[in-house]
Order: sequence, then structure tokens, then C-alpha cells
Amino acid sequence: MAKMESTRPIGMFDSGVGGVSVLRQARKMLPAEQFIFYGDTLHAPYGTKTREEVLQLSRNVAEKLINMDCKAIVIACNTATSAAAQTLRQIYTLPIIAMEPALKPASLLHRDGYVLSLATPGTIKGEKYQQLLQKYGEGVVSLPCPGMMEFVEQGETDSPALHAFLTDLFAPYQEKLPEAIVLGCTHYVFLKNAIAKHFPGVPLIDGNEGTVRQLKHMLMEKDLLAGENEEGGVTLLSSGDPGAVQLMDKLLNSKE
Ligand code: DGL
Repeated sequence: MAKMESTRPIGMFDSGVGGVSVLRQARKMLPAEQFIFYGDTLHAPYGTKTREEVLQLSRNVAEKLINMDCKAIVIACNTATSAAAQTLRQIYTLPIIAMEPALKPASLLHRDGYVLSLATPGTIKGEKYQQLLQKYGEGVVSLPCPGMMEFVEQGETDSPALHAFLTDLFAPYQEKLPEAIVLGCTHYVFLKNAIAKHFPGVPLIDGNEGTVRQLKHMLMEKDLLAGENEEGGVTLLSSGDPGAVQLMDKLLNSKE
């Protein structure tokens, strides 16, 4: 018998373990839902690949999630959103929810200083980010951070090597601290505490809650929200080494 539409799982994917930060938020806000999270760790990082490569990889993953009977897909990756969200929405009929770097909420904190926006090179080059910059980019300094997501993939969220990397990366922004920092990559959310040590007192803003709110809204609109009495759950999958699934599980249960 076909499963009831609303009890089918929600598929979520990222290039690696970073999208688990979106999953963690989604578990809080939608506890009755079943989630299948797919980390494409074999092909990570996406942020330094071409748009065409990321589009193809994202299509492959979306196809897998659809074959697993998902009722909706969340692209828990800013880079894949930028390269593939539009095309996936043209190809598939199921709801596809995507990320947006939090430039809009950060712009509310802008006064006479600047907002530092951290994202992958792919996201910053992408059309979506450039359009957002036109609207909310006053005072924004965009900083591509190649090499940063790799620390999270290694399970390093507070190591001396990570802090040495961050010290170099952030050196130009220490004399005058930013008014806000945008975490425009889902991996960076797991580095919140580490980044905060380099920018004491500066608010760090990400787009995870907004994305989950949008997911909830979309499911309600399409009558796909799981009933409150359903038992929610998570299946974690990775295209690469099985150790990635253990790391995802650890990150899912982390408070950071
Ligand atoms: N987590 C991804 C994002 O939100 C990208 C990391 C990468 O694969 O470079 O952009």
C-alpha cells in the first residue's frame, strides 16, 4: 500500500556534514517528521568546484532522495542552492526548499561600520548572492573562505590548527571589528564558538532557522506536514567514508 503522503520522509542534502546544522534546527521545529540526510562527502567540497559540477552533483543526490520516496527536498547547502536550486525546481515537481545567506537580517545591524559575510567562493560568485548583495549589500564585506569547511569535515571545531587558520583569515578585520557576521555556509554554523573567539561580542547570523520556517510553511501549504502524533526520526547517509555518518550523528547531537 502506498504510504500516506504526509508520513513520507523529507530529504536533505549537503556536500558533507555541514547541512546537519540545518537538520538539527529542523528536528527542533518539526519533531514529527522523518528526515533522510545525505552528505555527499565523496565529492566535498562543493564550494571550490564549478557551477556545472555542483549542478550535476546536486542533481544526482536529488535523484537518489526522490527514489527514496521523499515528499520534499531541502538543499542544506548555500553553494548547491546557488548552483542548482532553480534547475532542480524546473525538473522536479516536489517542493524544493533552499538556503539564503542571511544578508537581510544582518543588514538590520548595519550602522556606520561593516558586516562581514563568510561563504564559499562558489556562493559568493553565484548570481543569487550577487542579487542579494544588490538589495542588502550596503556595508557588506564578502570574504570567501576556501579551506574552512574542511575543518568541520575532520571533526575539528576548536583545534589549534583551526584557530591558526582563522587568525590568518581574520587578521584584516581585527583592528575594526564588524557589526555583524553572516555565516553563509552551513558548515560554518558548527564553527560559531570558534569564530566568536576571534570576534568577541559580534553577533553571528545564519540562515538555518529561516530555511526551516520556509520548509514548515511549504509543507503546510501542500498539506504534507506529518501529524503531531507521528514519531519523527533521522536516517544519516554519506557517499563517502562511513566515518562521516558517525561525525554527522555527533554534530546532530552537539549543542554548539
Ligand atoms: N555547506 C556548504 C554551503 O553551505 C558548502 C561547503 C562546501 O562544500 O564547500 O555552502
